[in-house]
Amino acid sequence: MADMQYPNVTVMDHPLIQHKLSILRDKATGSKQFRELVKELAMLMAFEATRGFQLAESTVETPIIETTTYVLAGKKVAVIPILRAGLGMVEGILELIPAARVGHIGLYRDPQTLRPVEYYCKLPEDISERDILIVDPMLATGGSASAAIQFLRERGARNISLLVLIAAPEGIKEVVECAGDVRIYAAAVDSHLNDHGYIVPGLGDAGDRLFGTK
Ligand code: PRP
Ligand code: URA
Repeated sequence: MADMQYPNVTVMDHPLIQHKLSILRDKATGSKQFRELVKELAMLMAFEATRGFQLAESTVETPIIETTTYVLAGKKVAVIPILRAGLGMVEGILELIPAARVGHIGLYRDPQTLRPVEYYCKLPEDISERDILIVDPMLATGGSASAAIQFLRERGARNISLLVLIAAPEGIKEVVECAGDVRIYAAAVDSHLNDHGYIVPGLGDAGDRLFGTK
């Protein structure tokens, strides 16, 4: 479902996605199930986010006859998780697109300023030739996603999509203002951010829930 205010924002209202997201939000859901759900949600979202991929005509010989078929046109893909929590979304996407390369951008939010601090980056060498899927479960202030987009742009990346599970309106606005051509896919857009920069109602700290660090 395209957002009326922002044409490049798609909120995925598929019943399977909404059902899994409800369990993910529940504070009683433990790390094991949380990880499984993040993986499944990423896979379902990637299915929709890759709808625009180009096809090329091919031929195949079935046991009956030779026929025209359609295969992916060969555009290369890079999945870029924003560490840490983005890591939880990588495996599900690689199950759908096994030939994709994976680049990592390490950013954490300074708890006082809420600004992203970069601590790691390793990207595929041919990043400028790839369709990019940035993945991160949470889009809160939008600082981390905008920094990652800027970082990738400086290295020549052009065709960028951002897949998040939960977005705050503040984060969407920030990314649209910084990078209006980036397509944003979210399973939900929540109400607002609280005073600590957490999404309300959200799901809490995605990294801590994925990795059991709190
Ligand atoms: C979380 C989340 C995003 C960021 C979103 O990461 O995974 O990367 O916050 O917030 P923002 O939109 O306000 O930048 P966090 O900084 O907690 O790091 P972690 O993944 O290592 O826990
Ligand atoms: N990061 C998280 O993990 N959760 C939020 O609600 C906001 C930022």
